[in-house]
Amino acid sequence: MLNGNNRGSKTRSVHGGTKRAKAYNSLTAPIVQTATYTFSDTQELIDFMERKTWGDGEDREEYGRYGNPTVTAVERKLAALDGGDDAVLYASGMNAITSLLLTILPAGSHIVITDDCYRRTRQFCLTFLKRFGIETTVVHMGDYEAMESAIIPKKTRIIISESPTNPYLRIADLERIAQIGKKHRVLTLIDSTFATPVNQRPLEWGIDFVLHSATKYLAGHNDVLAGVIVGQGDRMKALRDARGVLGGVVDPHAAYLVDRGIKTLGVRVQQQNETALEVARFLEAHPSIDRVWYPGLKSHPDYTVAASQMDAFGGVVTFEVKGDLKTTSDFIDRMRIPYIAPSLGGVESLIEQPALMSYFEKTTEERLALGIKDNLVRFAVGIEDTDDIINDLEQALSGIRARQEYPQIQNLWEVRFRQ
Ligand SMILES: Cc1ncc(COP(=O)(O)O)c(C=O)c1O
Repeated sequence: MLNGNNRGSKTRSVHGGTKRAKAYNSLTAPIVQTATYTFSDTQELIDFMERKTWGDGEDREEYGRYGNPTVTAVERKLAALDGGDDAVLYASGMNAITSLLLTILPAGSHIVITDDCYRRTRQFCLTFLKRFGIETTVVHMGDYEAMESAIIPKKTRIIISESPTNPYLRIADLERIAQIGKKHRVLTLIDSTFATPVNQRPLEWGIDFVLHSATKYLAGHNDVLAGVIVGQGDRMKALRDARGVLGGVVDPHAAYLVDRGIKTLGVRVQQQNETALEVARFLEAHPSIDRVWYPGLKSHPDYTVAASQMDAFGGVVTFEVKGDLKTTSDFIDRMRIPYIAPSLGGVESLIEQPALMSYFEKTTEERLALGIKDNLVRFAVGIEDTDDIINDLEQALSGIRARQEYPQIQNLWEVRFRQ
């Protein structure tokens, strides 16, 4: 098996954690599409049960909810990519986080979470877990004093953060969070979805658990949902056992799609990193843009920490268009390459205006209170040619500028040529 953490991310994406000898001499991990597994006779069943009782590792399964060879192949690869002992694959990113928290948190315990975390994760902590007597304190991203003082001795069990965050791509200081966790004997979890193991490996900084929505970059083709927790030691066995009870398993065919997607993770993410950095620089210099948020730009508030702990800065660029809600929508509608859709990390570029996507039901004032401006755009670049993406941005931005400067001419042009 090639774990090869000294090898490059492209080699690790193809070979990491992969057994070279596979069933039927298949080059690829076979899709073992079965819900259950058979025993040739009662003695084989008794042998299996006894070995299981003794805790001897057995390379077979008993029932689909307890394991599947196609799923295990993906898990080995993900563990190798993030430098963990083990990985547990789930039916979605949300299923991964909810299963982890339901597994490790006792009644009456307490969570510390940063305010820029994925909103459904915060929702789960603040509403669902609250019903079971689990309290959550939300602290401002980047305020490590607040994080530490939010810890309640003997009650706080986990600190949850994300890096980069959505949509402002804030970067958590992983080493500092790990230190706070260790000092107070509190577990730490980083949602590393936006970074991928190509750009950042939180376990190397002392973090206990890494979460990915594998739906995004890992699978990479916008065609499958999955999630993963990567970590070390016995805690992972507890997660695996709990998955057998909670039931959030991935279908073997979906697991195969994740495995297939990961093989190109290294090349895809390299391309996306390069394009995003160019897009960020282009937009920062553009007169129709108010502000760009990209951790690879010196203007980003977390540039220094990003540069110290990331190999590259990821494929998402967030920016503010000069203008209001309508001008910004107009700009998005003029883009020809990206699709308007939530999500990120696939081969197709996706673009969205958070005010109208994730925060549609809120008023401008409510959105502003949450830090979401009407003119904000989140652009998740795909693997299209960088020049084509820049040209597309240029034509869409000059379109809105022409409309702002010469509204009558523009309207005439639209009437004549757009019909
Ligand atoms: C940062 C982050 N974490 C977790 C999730 C949840 O993942 P999934 O959609 O696979 O359940 C998402 C989904 O958008 C996300 O962006």
